[in-house]
Amino acid sequence: MSIPISPLFDLQGKVALITGGAGLLAAEHAIALMDHGASIILADRNLEACDQAVAVLNQNGYDKVVSVQADVTSKDSWNDLLNIGIKHFGKIDVLINNAGFTNQSKSKNFDAGFADFPLEDWNNIMNVNLTGTFLGCQVIGKHMLENGNGSIINIASLYGVVSPNHKIYPGTGISQPVAYSVSKHGVVSLTKYLATLWADKGVRVNSLTPGGIWNGHKGLFLERFEQLIPIGRMSDKTELRGGIVYLASNASSHVIGHNLIIDGGWTAW
Ligand SMILES: NC(=O)c1ccc[n+]([C@@H]2O[C@H](COP(=O)([O-])OP(=O)(O)OC[C@H]3O[C@@H](n4cnc5c(N)ncnc54)[C@H](O)[C@@H]3O)[C@@H](O)[C@H]2O)c1
Repeated sequence: MSIPISPLFDLQGKVALITGGAGLLAAEHAIALMDHGASIILADRNLEACDQAVAVLNQNGYDKVVSVQADVTSKDSWNDLLNIGIKHFGKIDVLINNAGFTNQSKSKNFDAGFADFPLEDWNNIMNVNLTGTFLGCQVIGKHMLENGNGSIINIASLYGVVSPNHKIYPGTGISQPVAYSVSKHGVVSLTKYLATLWADKGVRVNSLTPGGIWNGHKGLFLERFEQLIPIGRMSDKTELRGGIVYLASNASSHVIGHNLIIDGGWTAW
């Protein structure tokens, strides 16, 4: 008997909370999920920028999305997010822990080598990338367990799977801090821990690992970086959409603790 595949990707009636809503990738996740019928809560510490992201989505015909201010490093903020989700939509079915440390949060000496890397930056990066993901899983995961249903997607990084290639960065004006890589390895580990803990309770936990997303990169950095990608180019920001819908929907109903790597082959050789 032939079983239709498309309904497995259907997200009608589902509600997704996406953190880091004002950044490069959150709007892509939102578009992917809205295209399949979901409603979206976009949350970011920077409300003005998040409102702007929602305005752009609205201009492009996506109106099932609201903007909320939240700090993922605060448990109170996560509790507020849950209450907002329940008030607006009655529940949260999908959580995308996408907020990440941004260069705006750099303290001075950020670009110092490992020996002098500031503790302040280590703590900032770990707090947003790892503790923020932990708190999100704890608060929203509890709600999903009560409902017996949910999908959590933790956004990791190719540098959560392998080390940065230290030969790329000198002379490019870009640095790759130790805490970023360590925190993203932690995200992959946290994902497996929770995935196995909740596997038989209806809540699926997986991670999605982007490679380098092209965002105006050029010059020496682009040249060196692309040489290391088997496909020969950085990702377009739209290329995560399929993976997001897959992990959020019933299409991945038996997928637990997986790290879906979308990196043009970077980690394959
Ligand atoms: N862009 C890439 O090339 C790439 C590659 C691999 C992994 N990733 C990961 O994908 C995710 C999204 O990346 P992006 O490129 O959209 O990042 P981005 O820097 O464009 O956006 C990150 C957003 O997170 C928000 N944020 C930071 N701290 C926060 C906090 N405490 N509470 C709430 N919001 C907070 C920022 O305000 C920003 O809007 C991140 O987790 C990042 O590490 C990105």
